[in-house]
Amino acid sequence: MLEPCIDIHSHFFPARSPDFSARFGAGSGPWVTITDHGDGTGMMMLGDKPFRPVHAALWDPNARVAELDAAGVGVQLVCATPVMFAYSAPAAQAAYVASTYNELALEFVAASGGRLRALCQVPLQDVDLACRELTRAMRAGCVGVQIGNHVGARELDDPDIVRFLAHCADEAAPVLVHPWDMFGGERLARWMAAWTVAMPAETQWGIVSMILGGAFDRLPESLRICFAHGGGSFPYLLGRLENAWHRRDIARGMSRHPPSHYLRRFHVDSAVFDRRALRLLVDTLGADHIMVGSDAPFPLGEADIGRLVREQPDLSAAARSAMLHHNAKIFFRLE
Ligand code: CO
Repeated sequence: MLEPCIDIHSHFFPARSPDFSARFGAGSGPWVTITDHGDGTGMMMLGDKPFRPVHAALWDPNARVAELDAAGVGVQLVCATPVMFAYSAPAAQAAYVASTYNELALEFVAASGGRLRALCQVPLQDVDLACRELTRAMRAGCVGVQIGNHVGARELDDPDIVRFLAHCADEAAPVLVHPWDMFGGERLARWMAAWTVAMPAETQWGIVSMILGGAFDRLPESLRICFAHGGGSFPYLLGRLENAWHRRDIARGMSRHPPSHYLRRFHVDSAVFDRRALRLLVDTLGADHIMVGSDAPFPLGEADIGRLVREQPDLSAAARSAMLHHNAKIFFRLE
């Protein structure tokens, strides 16, 4: 009998793509659609360009639950794929897109018999609209919110984004920060380097921005915030950041304390694919700040969800249970 597992990081897309082009006009977008090949596979399209090969578990809740059964996962949280955020669209459009996808996410999870729960998305380019949608979506049944790690040039220490995070704390809405819109442009346009190299750095930059930009100092400790992919490059490079903080005053930004002071302020998921990396996470953040996150059902996700944590050597039973399900239950207030 496998110990229960809660997966807090997975993605969905609605079976019927909303037609945002029809609503907002041909010059809007590009919007995401799925081309269903009819054999259990499909292609996620961004505008008229292929974005990512996908399979039915992305849009079919029955196929998703079958995957959970096969992996021994009890409950899984689903959220948008970051290309669905529409952060660069006009704010009113993004607000409509967010509420449409959030309702479709709730429909997707409603068909799962309690096995799936939804995180909402918000139009983060407009903090007032973002706060309004957060409140609405949480009341409608979402268990938290997923945001990108930046909105254009605005990082997580941006005053408006901090105001949104404060609103999340007020509403007891947990936040999952997902890297997206990766830097590097043409230089990283080979070998999926945007995903394997830039994405972990985006996440690291998100955490560093919150620390050095003074966001953690300004936000209440009650904010529950989790960074995807094990915090990206952050845990491995914490020593470098810490050294710079102590040795160069220009490396301190607005933070009141050295970076290591803030390690108890955030959680990470377990999507690091390597037991040495998971060991570092446990040593750095503590098993009580790590939750299983698979990035399913995408090709760069953990195919056998939770396996890394289940098979990690040298963990106490309590630490393993914490990472497999206990932390997620508390963080997301799951029944
Ligand atoms: Co993901």
